[in-house]
Amino acid sequence: MIANTPEAASPAPFAHRMLTEIHQQPEVIAASIEHYAEQHQLRPEIWQPILAAFGNCSQILIAASGTSRHAGLVAERLLEELAGIAVDVEYASEYILQHAGSNPGAAVLVLSQSGETADTLAALSEAKRRGAATIAITNVAGSTMARLADAHLVTAAGPEQAIAATKSFTTQLTVLYLLALALGQYRGFLSSADVEQHLSGLADLPRLIQQALPGWQTAAETAAVNFLHARSFLFLGRGLSYPIAREAALKLKEVSYIPAEAYPTGELKHGPNALLGAGAPVVILAAADPANPSSFARYNKSLRLLEDIQPQHPHILAVGVAGDPNLPHLAAEILSIPAATEYLLPILEIVPLQLFSYWMAVQRGLNVDSPRNLQKAVTAE
Ligand code: AGP
Repeated sequence: MIANTPEAASPAPFAHRMLTEIHQQPEVIAASIEHYAEQHQLRPEIWQPILAAFGNCSQILIAASGTSRHAGLVAERLLEELAGIAVDVEYASEYILQHAGSNPGAAVLVLSQSGETADTLAALSEAKRRGAATIAITNVAGSTMARLADAHLVTAAGPEQAIAATKSFTTQLTVLYLLALALGQYRGFLSSADVEQHLSGLADLPRLIQQALPGWQTAAETAAVNFLHARSFLFLGRGLSYPIAREAALKLKEVSYIPAEAYPTGELKHGPNALLGAGAPVVILAAADPANPSSFARYNKSLRLLEDIQPQHPHILAVGVAGDPNLPHLAAEILSIPAATEYLLPILEIVPLQLFSYWMAVQRGLNVDSPRNLQKAVTAE
């Protein structure tokens, strides 16, 4: 049973709920890890029923909306790389209208903070009607999706009241990483020593975020002041950081009303570069795990791209690993994150970008906790 403590144990009061919830992330990520793992081992009593039901599925279809779908895009790579399961990610609103024969035999995983989003709920009902095995990951244990799905995994974000999802997203990423490890071990893709190593890295994540938060707070505010008059933003990321670029662009749109697009970094020269110019900064996610050759290769490619565009287009905000010797020559502003393994980078990248969106909205005098036209749970299709 997860105790909903984060409200009570919040850090010192902040000016807005969104800022409070951003600062609760170390605590709620730690609570999410503790619910599913203990002393760097997955808790068998929690995982056995899930694995008995889904461990042998050859394919998973993830259906979700908005921020939750971005968590699904990260999960796609985690489940493929760590558990060898083929994954498709759909907009929940599209899944319900697809030909019923698509993805035959796939288990369906729905992701939803509220557990009540109409499109995602409809996707879950449709998956059940089609006879698929279903899992829901929600932040509300008694939600409709939690009750309807064959299996439910809860996130320990605690109540999230700001409209823009922050801590619910990072706890979704945490639980999805744990799910990929559990499935990877069950299917023989990962040894128990591999899983222990992943869990030991994950256990350190709350501390890394906690220590970085004061510096991110200042750096994000400074970057927001410097880019305050931007008309639009282009977010770029590769690999696991591409969904994070999408989520960061969504966050900026939601709270600051500035148009923002996101692309895989390598797509820049295939059209989006027409948007570059004064008033249209680029935000590039350029953190890497040097011990991981493909992560380092992605980083080097991103550096080459920055070297190429920077002389004509110096309006660049980079997210990179602290102490990176290259980025200070290539970016006007840097949000530095602590060194970490590839699988932890998505969470470390999004937190300072949540703060960047927050400060853009606050500097523009907007209602950051309750942006225009948005609802916390979209319960009508
Ligand atoms: C997130 O900041 C948004 N408010 C929105 O995209 C949200 O993620 C989406 O509506 C899905 O909500 P859910 O996670 O509760 O299903």
